[in-house]
Amino acid sequence: MPNAEFIFSDVQKTLSSGSFTWETPSNIALIKYWGKHGNQLPANPSLSFTLSASATKTTLKYFPVENKSSKIDFEVIFEGKPTESFKPKIAQFFERVEEFIPFIKNYKFEIHTENTFPHSSGIASSASGMAALALCLMSMEKEINPEISAAYFSRKASFLARLGSGSAARSVEGPMMIWGEHPAVKESSDRFAITNPFEVHAVFKDYQNTILIVDKGKKEVSSSLGHQLMIGHPFAKARFDQAYVNLELLIDILKRGDLKEFIKIVESEALTLHAMMMTSSPYFLLMKPNTLEIIQQIWKYRKENKSHLCFTLDAGANIHLLYPAAEKEEVLNFIQTKLTPFCEDGEFIQDQIGKGPRKI
Ligand code: DP6
Repeated sequence: MPNAEFIFSDVQKTLSSGSFTWETPSNIALIKYWGKHGNQLPANPSLSFTLSASATKTTLKYFPVENKSSKIDFEVIFEGKPTESFKPKIAQFFERVEEFIPFIKNYKFEIHTENTFPHSSGIASSASGMAALALCLMSMEKEINPEISAAYFSRKASFLARLGSGSAARSVEGPMMIWGEHPAVKESSDRFAITNPFEVHAVFKDYQNTILIVDKGKKEVSSSLGHQLMIGHPFAKARFDQAYVNLELLIDILKRGDLKEFIKIVESEALTLHAMMMTSSPYFLLMKPNTLEIIQQIWKYRKENKSHLCFTLDAGANIHLLYPAAEKEEVLNFIQTKLTPFCEDGEFIQDQIGKGPRKI
């Protein structure tokens, strides 16, 4: 029973009403998770930078109940307003995690949540949101059982977060996370993410991430559907194999600080993700004309300025720019003069690699 270590059985103690708050950053994958099987298990390992400014702040208020019902009773209050639309995903999360934190049946909950980034910016908050909720639940577990170690706390928080949203597994710590078993990464697991255990070159310690908001609309294709499209995809096996190879290459590049090779892997991963969507059945085109305009501009700028600016993409039209802190001034100037015309309402979010969540 591989998950036995995460089952909490001592539910004797019931807490009186209380609350926990965690501010949890989003993350950006460099090696992409795209394709899953079983209970939220990834088809290939992924590696991400944990962000700093783009975060979700969640307060979990809990109230003991006399009569346990079969379903967890909870309300979601997003930016101060009760929000029904968030409930199905959270209800599913509670169903999936109940086996591992059975004490939740003894409480009803109010989940107060808000993002530091604008809601209609096309940025998904499922990674930061699910990770924040998982951390709050782990704080409850620690209150009930203070014996648990810090390592167990993080590992189980990642394990629970994964059951809410795969990429959330990588948001419970920073600054670089690996999720998914890889033979070259000893402690790696499909069930939870770990911090990158290898040495990392100083250039990456304060790597910059600017998110260009090309399209504020909701994603056209949900990640869940996208992952499903990898089942039976004609290029799935080649893609999964490639991710294993790229992850190992990237670990070495991160050690050596080889920015040229970094750019090759990171941009290729982003374009491959989109290529998978273009070649699935049904097929989707998630970039917008302005996404392509920006990519062309980045390539031109990089060549003309011998810069190390590069990009990655999520499953949408927005662009994540990645570059060393030493180039920040010039790159910001380039963004402001050349790239903001391609952003919706000229908007972008300035961020950088971060240390991980904060308990408040
Ligand atoms: C393109 O984690 O959102 O951002 O597990 O169904 O919730 P679910 O999917 P999700 O997928 C993220 C996909 C991605 C790549 C990545 O973050 O690795």
